[in-house]
Amino acid sequence: MSAVSSNHGPRFFVTIRRKKSALLGVTLVTAAVLLCLQYNVAKEAVDESVQPVPANLYLDTDKRTQEGRPNYGGEPKPVQFIANSVASDFLPEQQSQFINNYPQQQQQPYVQSRQSQQVYPSSRKQIYVPPQRIVHFDLKGAPPKVSYLKHVFALIKKLGATGVLLEWEDMFPWRGPIKELAASNAYSKEDIKEILASAKDNSLSVIPLIQTFGHMEFALKYNTFSSLREVPESAQALCPSLNESLTLVEHMVEQVIALHGHVPYLHVGCDEVFQMGECPRCRPKPREDLFLSHVANVARIVKKQSPHTIPLIWDDMLRHLPAATMMLYKMNTLVEPMVWVYAEDIYRFVPSNVWDKYASVFPYIWTASAFKGAFGETMYVPNVKRHLENNLNWLELMNNEGPLYKGGFRGIAITGWQRYDHFATLCELLPAAIPSLAVNTLATSRGFFNATLLEPLVSGLDCSIMPPSSVPIMSDPFLWDTLGRCGFPGHGFFNFLQRFNSLQREVADFITQIDHKRSWLTQYNVRHNFSSPLRVDELLMDAPRLYHSATSMVHSAIENLQSVYDNYTVAEWIEQNIWPLIQRLDKIQQDGANLKQRKVWPRRPFPIIKELERFGLIKGDPSSNARNPGLTANRVPGG
Ligand SMILES: *[C@@H]1O[C@H](CO)[C@@H](O)[C@H](O)[C@H]1NC(C)=O
Ligand SMILES: *[C@@H]1O[C@H](CO)[C@@H](O)[C@H](O)[C@H]1NC(C)=O
Ligand SMILES: *[C@@H]1O[C@H](CO)[C@@H](O)[C@H](O)[C@H]1NC(C)=O
Ligand SMILES: *[C@@H]1O[C@H](CO)[C@@H](O)[C@H](O)[C@H]1NC(C)=O
Repeated sequence: MSAVSSNHGPRFFVTIRRKKSALLGVTLVTAAVLLCLQYNVAKEAVDESVQPVPANLYLDTDKRTQEGRPNYGGEPKPVQFIANSVASDFLPEQQSQFINNYPQQQQQPYVQSRQSQQVYPSSRKQIYVPPQRIVHFDLKGAPPKVSYLKHVFALIKKLGATGVLLEWEDMFPWRGPIKELAASNAYSKEDIKEILASAKDNSLSVIPLIQTFGHMEFALKYNTFSSLREVPESAQALCPSLNESLTLVEHMVEQVIALHGHVPYLHVGCDEVFQMGECPRCRPKPREDLFLSHVANVARIVKKQSPHTIPLIWDDMLRHLPAATMMLYKMNTLVEPMVWVYAEDIYRFVPSNVWDKYASVFPYIWTASAFKGAFGETMYVPNVKRHLENNLNWLELMNNEGPLYKGGFRGIAITGWQRYDHFATLCELLPAAIPSLAVNTLATSRGFFNATLLEPLVSGLDCSIMPPSSVPIMSDPFLWDTLGRCGFPGHGFFNFLQRFNSLQREVADFITQIDHKRSWLTQYNVRHNFSSPLRVDELLMDAPRLYHSATSMVHSAIENLQSVYDNYTVAEWIEQNIWPLIQRLDKIQQDGANLKQRKVWPRRPFPIIKELERFGLIKGDPSSNARNPGLTANRVPGG
């Protein structure tokens, strides 16, 4: 969840992107390889057009590097909305900023990165440990089994976490007038109680999270709640000017408090409100007023139901608001902000002046880093190196900025996004990210990361190996080689991903050969049913083996995920990641078999395909083609 965008004036955007979304910088690595850096807004826009075609097929960071955090939604649509609501000269500036700065770093991963630290602190002796280390569980649209969560809670406790931030979204057993908000595979009330009891057993504090402004897709997507949208075409943002919007918030807050009790903190989201001030009711009001008055209303709803609960909000929508305006709406007494940046360079997104401004308003403040779900919407294993850098930079920043605040930093939430928004497909699954979670929980809990922590790391992850003598993250960013023989919850899936990654690359190479490098099984050959059977045989030689490997990957994924997720989630991951390979291999084999049936071949030249008629290559009635624009290749009849 989460990213942000806002309309509070152009500068808003800057911050926004940083968090979950992504602006992106784009780099050309070689003639054909595009490096795509996603950041916020830009990310969305640029990214879509730049990704290599088999976007899903590559995991490697060299080819697609993304930053930012989920929540921005990678779909082109949100971008348009964003663009509409932001000063138009703003986007290009942001984009170019990224293009100028990020890509170079990305080309030579980490080595040249400004603060590429695999150890910390490097020169400085001082270490900083945030008072609270809260691990975020994004549960939207894919509930881990309760038994699995229990194992993970015990693990993070052992590594130094003090609490959990539970983002239930459609996995909460909503009832009464809002029962529709619960997915049909949502947790039951008993499940929730069991999860909360497990947190308690592990002495982990619990902060529930409810979205109350932006990222309301899980409610506003339904007909029942569609009238509460700010903009009819988008289910992203709630209209703050409707009384029924507050009624919806009231129901959610009430039900969450009823199950969680009077928790000390309740996170009410409020990030990335992509549409604000656009409906006829809201248009006359300044956006800052719309935003702040809604936050104030939500905070009052929370206080009314649970007077000692402090509401937390994501900070992105505040970044460019003047301190005086925040004071006017009593933000200082109503909420505490949680400042999120998931990219490595935190000050780039939240510079010193913003820290000064926040300090002039808020006595207490929170931060949020990430351990997964921030560097690419379709990634399936997190780059631990990048996440560690993000977390270590946060420690340094908190050490620097903490003295500005009367009350100081409350703590850091280490976020782990599961989808970039409700409509997005899955990014890294929890079991794939346990090593990253462990490294980053340890680092934030000890205030440093160096070889000293490798012993607690391997023992925490239940590995049957000796701790390495140096931090291996530079050469092994996913930790597949280092942590291949461990027994942490979900290790089977983590190990599986290394095998899957290598198959995926092999299949991608194979497809590149077929489609682009070799000359007898291209789409041209297929359309014209014209090829050399011997060559086709040769090209297809590896196909059965790859096909077989891909199907056995499905079995292996099921086997390894079954203890972690329900079959819906297992199926979604497989459909998204493995099934496309199987489908493509299947099609290639069918095409080959068809081509081989032919024993005699037609004289050249071949008929010009219908699709090219409109370019005037053949005489014909252009209007008849206009009506028939599909891919209905004009197959050359037999000979
Ligand atoms: C919304 O609620 C306010 C305060 O309770 C009330 O004054 C106002 O008339 C309501 N508006 C509508 C359209 O119901
Ligand atoms: C790791 O860092 C800690 C804290 O700065 C320090 O006490 C320890 O000696 C370091 N260990 C190594 C192996 O550098
Ligand atoms: C889930 O999938 C597994 C493996 O295919 C199967 O054995 C099990 O019965 C399925 N569970 C449900 C509830 O359908
Ligand atoms: C290709 O030609 C063979 C032999 O004439 C025929 O059996 C087959 O159906 C054709 N395939 C396509 C796709 O037209």
